[in-house]
Amino acid sequence: MQPGQPSRTALGAAVHRAVHQVLERGRIFTDPLAMRILGADAEAAVRNAENDPSRRKLRLFIAARTRFAEDALTAAVARGVRQLVVLGAGLDTYAYRTTFGESLRIFEVDHPSTQAWKREQLTQAAIPVPRTLTFVPIDFERETLAGGLAAAGFDPGRRTFFTWLGVVPYLTEQAVLSTLGFIASLPGGAHVVFDYSNPPASGPDQHDDASVGEALAARVASLGETFKSHFETDVLHASLTALGFAQIEDLGPAVIRERYFAGRGGSVPDRGGHIVRATTV
Ligand SMILES: C[S@@+](CC[C@H](N)C(=O)[O-])C[C@H]1O[C@@H](n2cnc3c(N)ncnc32)[C@H](O)[C@@H]1O
Repeated sequence: MQPGQPSRTALGAAVHRAVHQVLERGRIFTDPLAMRILGADAEAAVRNAENDPSRRKLRLFIAARTRFAEDALTAAVARGVRQLVVLGAGLDTYAYRTTFGESLRIFEVDHPSTQAWKREQLTQAAIPVPRTLTFVPIDFERETLAGGLAAAGFDPGRRTFFTWLGVVPYLTEQAVLSTLGFIASLPGGAHVVFDYSNPPASGPDQHDDASVGEALAARVASLGETFKSHFETDVLHASLTALGFAQIEDLGPAVIRERYFAGRGGSVPDRGGHIVRATTV
């Protein structure tokens, strides 16, 4: 991120969710606040995306990861989860449209610059902040999640669901594993949903998707938010198990396509962007 500036990729992800409401009519993921939180720039963002079909693939991935996370959260609440931590929340709108009301305490954790900008966007869009939501400004690379959450009144003894979408690639492997270690250590039990990418392929076997990944890496780097971590799937699963996660569900590109983009056809390699749900309970 650029010093003192809100995350540009957070804006990018929010634009993708808003455009999905219009161009795909929210087919994968419906969010009635997605356009509103962008304010006056929303219509122009949709027009730009209409003229640039190369953005569709990432847009659908972002819609799919959000849909997967919210479905998993709904199932977890039915099984007793009463706290949600949205890690690296960006312009995520879940807290402002959840139907769980007082039964779900929510913590939005984000870089202080991004969070300050989000709060302005919420005010300008006249989106009310629910009493159940607490903002927690933290720089993951400099401060501990444990310290930030403790100061915000988080109860480590209550079963908690974490969403961590679109953040892992921007952190070092050490920061990723230390955050996952904290989540796994919570005495009340925890669920986490996050996304990650496999290391880019190279050489003659490189698939089209790899060049799309390279273009995305170059684009986010130009915004000052360079990708810092990639994981081999089997290595990541071994780390999750060693940290104490008991159940791991990992959706690779082929499964994501089959589950959310059914009917689009074509073969897909199982390397690329993955969505994971891991639980300690
Ligand atoms: C691509 S955005 C994703 C935002 C949101 N989860 C979504 O899906 O729209 C990346 C998020 O990670 C946050 N982030 C990146 N580096 C961070 C750091 N060192 N500490 C705290 N947050 C960070 C940014 O502020 C931003 O909100």
